[in-house]
Amino acid sequence: MKILEPITIGGVTFKNRLLLPPLTTGYEAKDGSISAQSRAFYTRLAQGGVGYIVLGDVAPIRSFAPTPKLFDDSQIESFRLLADSVHAYGAKLGVQIFHPEYDVDALNLMFANGEQDKVRARLHHDMDNFVNEVTEEALMEILKKMCACAVRAQKAGIDAIQVHGDRLVGALCSTKMNYRTDKFGGSLENRTRFALMLVKALREAVPEMIIEYKLPVVTPTLGKGGIDETDAPQFARLLEEAGVHMLHVAQANHTGNLADTIPPMGVQPYCFFADIAGTVKQAVTIPVSTSGRIIDPEMAEELLEAGRVDMVGIGRALLADPDWINKAAAGKAKSIIRCIGCNEGCVDAVMSGGFIACVVNAENGFEESRIIIQTNVKKKVVVIGGGPAGLEAARVAAIKGHHVTLIEKDTKLGGQLNIADKPPRKSEIRRTVEDLEHAILSNGVVLRLGEKATTERILAMAPEAVIVAVGATNFIPPISGVNGPNVCDAWKVLADEQNVSGRVAVIGGGMVGCETAEYLAEQGCKVSIVEMRDKIAGEIGPTVLPTMLELFNKHGVAQFTEHKVTNITVGELICEEPNGKVVKIPCDYVVMASGSHPEKFDTTALSDHGISVVKVGDCSKVSNISHAIKTGYDAANAL
Ligand SMILES: Cc1cc2nc3c(=O)[nH]c(=O)nc-3n(C[C@H](O)[C@H](O)[C@H](O)COP(=O)(O)O)c2cc1C
Ligand code: SF4
Repeated sequence: MKILEPITIGGVTFKNRLLLPPLTTGYEAKDGSISAQSRAFYTRLAQGGVGYIVLGDVAPIRSFAPTPKLFDDSQIESFRLLADSVHAYGAKLGVQIFHPEYDVDALNLMFANGEQDKVRARLHHDMDNFVNEVTEEALMEILKKMCACAVRAQKAGIDAIQVHGDRLVGALCSTKMNYRTDKFGGSLENRTRFALMLVKALREAVPEMIIEYKLPVVTPTLGKGGIDETDAPQFARLLEEAGVHMLHVAQANHTGNLADTIPPMGVQPYCFFADIAGTVKQAVTIPVSTSGRIIDPEMAEELLEAGRVDMVGIGRALLADPDWINKAAAGKAKSIIRCIGCNEGCVDAVMSGGFIACVVNAENGFEESRIIIQTNVKKKVVVIGGGPAGLEAARVAAIKGHHVTLIEKDTKLGGQLNIADKPPRKSEIRRTVEDLEHAILSNGVVLRLGEKATTERILAMAPEAVIVAVGATNFIPPISGVNGPNVCDAWKVLADEQNVSGRVAVIGGGMVGCETAEYLAEQGCKVSIVEMRDKIAGEIGPTVLPTMLELFNKHGVAQFTEHKVTNITVGELICEEPNGKVVKIPCDYVVMASGSHPEKFDTTALSDHGISVVKVGDCSKVSNISHAIKTGYDAANAL
């Protein structure tokens, strides 16, 4: 396979063509040093076979942003430990050096003085203006700090520096952000002056290191920071002349719409930046890589076969399964647990101040504590329920070496994922069902579909442990008129068991309500969302929400927030505003999406027989897929 072939760049041989593109993880220590959590994460990826790892957003300065930082010699040791750790598995390590598009020193001072309001206002101002206000003198200081950071990286034994061609550097290159009239603004030569000066300075500062450049390309519809698509080939040639050893061509980040940069499922096609990378590759002689929704080995292989790139960046897909590469190398690509592009456990988590913890991989972010260890005492385990929690529990219990039987009352696996994949852009969720089904079957789990798990049946199987994963049911609140013929259940509507048309009022503006509204609007219904809280879609992340709101706009989906439904009649929904005003919403159908509650399963008799019983997923606490996978994993791993 081409993806597994080595490649030598700048005198350094990478063992294969697969790289982890830069990802801000949220794992680092407060001062930006590499923490044990961070080291465990990257080491796990190296163990999984990746040839090159790039640490995202490494700041050469002390800043409050939750990224790695390498501004002081005292931090070198933590980076050295990381380099040693990934080198032990044959992977090379790069650091992506960036400077934010704001005045870090000014903001640090305000922070130190506790002036939070000023910090917010300044940040807001700088995001659009710093690129145009920063003086040449300050730019030269920034350049020096970036070089000093590179020297520290070299001392730490790191192999490559990736210049982050977005953020401040990309803002300077951009025709959409840079309005300067001095030698750093205007012509292509001027806009790229700082980037090229930086590359040359880095080559002098760390002549033995590989210098890579992340080339974010701005297309007529996507992105803001970086180089315009039409200028990209010429700029790539200038970068090569300046001494860059390799280019990573990808969508701009941070200075564009997040839904563009790190697109969730269904928004951009697979390999969405490969064509642009291919065009850049034709302009240069140095190796070119790309990233962006390259999900499985077949896609990566095709890009290399077609000669569009020399290396392939696999970001989120490696979070979902760090063994992606080793599995591909072993001819077991089918056993890869694939990323579904939900962005919930990665981008959204980091954006809300947390750390990356992929929803389909319970170990991600917890590499030190969640490890499956083979059992010495094989047990007979019954898992009740074939939704994500039950499937994950069965998978982990079987990998541990237990004898596992999974009983599912439905004739197919997947549980709520069978309706979660129905709304627009959500079909990729299906992959989790397919991958977990493949995993349990290939690990010897006995599957009993279409069978109700009664206590008698379970006892007859004489298990030593039972994991209950019976899920949840849609909650129908006791509103007057709720049993009328015009009232439907969102879950049944999504499952195509109930049909609605015309004017539809969806009660509940959470995720299920909003997605059902999208689903119905796309089918031509005139939809209103009615929500008691002051906003809809509260739990929908920043990379998913813009596309959903666009669709609501396109279809004229009406939103009634802070509206309490008091009565449902044939033809009308009666609501009350907080001030007591009564509002009547005309509708042909009402769809209930006001939350769910745990499905009951009485475990007393099983416990009384000395069987160890644990509930996982929604039947233990109504939550999301991440909770289902993690509780399923933990319960099985504890057996
Ligand atoms: C959680 C997360 C953090 C990211 N942080 C960075 C970053 O610090 N620097 C950067 O250049 N790109 C960053 N990216 C963009 C990725 O490098 C990559 O271009 C993007 O995820 C698309 O690749 P994928 O579909 O394989 O994940 C980030 C992406 C994710 C998912
Ligand atoms: S959280 Fe979702 S998008 Fe992120 S890596 Fe996991 S499956 Fe992919």
